[in-house]
Amino acid sequence: GTTLGTSAAEKGRYFGAAVAAGRLGDSTYAGILDREFNAITPENEMKWDATEPNQGQFRWTGGDQIVAHAQAHGQKVRGHTLTWHAQQPGWAQNMSGSALRNAMVNHITQVATHYKGKVFAWDVVNEAFADGGSGGRRDSNLQRTGNDWIEVAFRTARAADPGAKLCYNDYNTDGINAKSTGIYNMVRDFKSRGVPIDCVGFQSHLGNSVSGDYQANLQRFADLGVDVQITELDIAGSNQANNYATVVRSCLAVSRCTGITVWGIRDSDSWRTGENPLLFTASGAKKAAYTSTLNAL
Ligand code: XIL
Repeated sequence: GTTLGTSAAEKGRYFGAAVAAGRLGDSTYAGILDREFNAITPENEMKWDATEPNQGQFRWTGGDQIVAHAQAHGQKVRGHTLTWHAQQPGWAQNMSGSALRNAMVNHITQVATHYKGKVFAWDVVNEAFADGGSGGRRDSNLQRTGNDWIEVAFRTARAADPGAKLCYNDYNTDGINAKSTGIYNMVRDFKSRGVPIDCVGFQSHLGNSVSGDYQANLQRFADLGVDVQITELDIAGSNQANNYATVVRSCLAVSRCTGITVWGIRDSDSWRTGENPLLFTASGAKKAAYTSTLNAL
């Protein structure tokens, strides 16, 4: 293929980008998006603070705008994210215990129901594991409602939208380490007990090197019977072009690695200000990393 999306499709994969609704009116941005990408993740518009700014009052504007754009351009939508310790509305940040647990369940039900049939996959839970060597959960208001909050979130999402793939998504899990092993053990436990989980997302916010066991890590999760996806790829540093190619080749080598999403389009769109971790320059030109990515597909 001559674009990221068509090349990935030839391999049975998607190639997506995180999109900000507020940038869709920028013709350079939208031009690249619709030429190169066949999947979209809303960068912020489906998060809890955006979708339920006041308890029980839902705001669909930004997410619906992105879904409409995607449907008009034949792009799949990856929902992000039903639960997370960050970007919670103020009212939820101040909650705890059963009130917070009930609010979480209602939030998942309402959002997954609204987008039923419109998102092919949901990040049901984002970043719930701790960094470092513990392999355990991250402390958060959600975690303090009880260790079962993650399985409750997945069961709630399944009930609301039985057709969506339900994913766990995290960062610093891009190799075999204590954090990724903690998640691996959770997924294995969920599969053994029938907790509905279909996929694991590897954010892959990377720097100078790609872990030597990147592919092996994806494979060990796939071997548990879940799909794996690269969900928020961006790569800083001087070895950027080679590292993008390594990530793409690793995904293609794992049959259950179903797609790759980059976390933005141009360097000027990136949340990693000043690191220039994406595939297009601020003016929309293809970078060396673009070419190496396309060639690896
Ligand atoms: C980031 C967005 O890119 C920023 O615009 C926002 O200010 C903060 O969140 N992990 C995730 C994403 O799962 O949702 C985050 O996105 C980046 C890290």
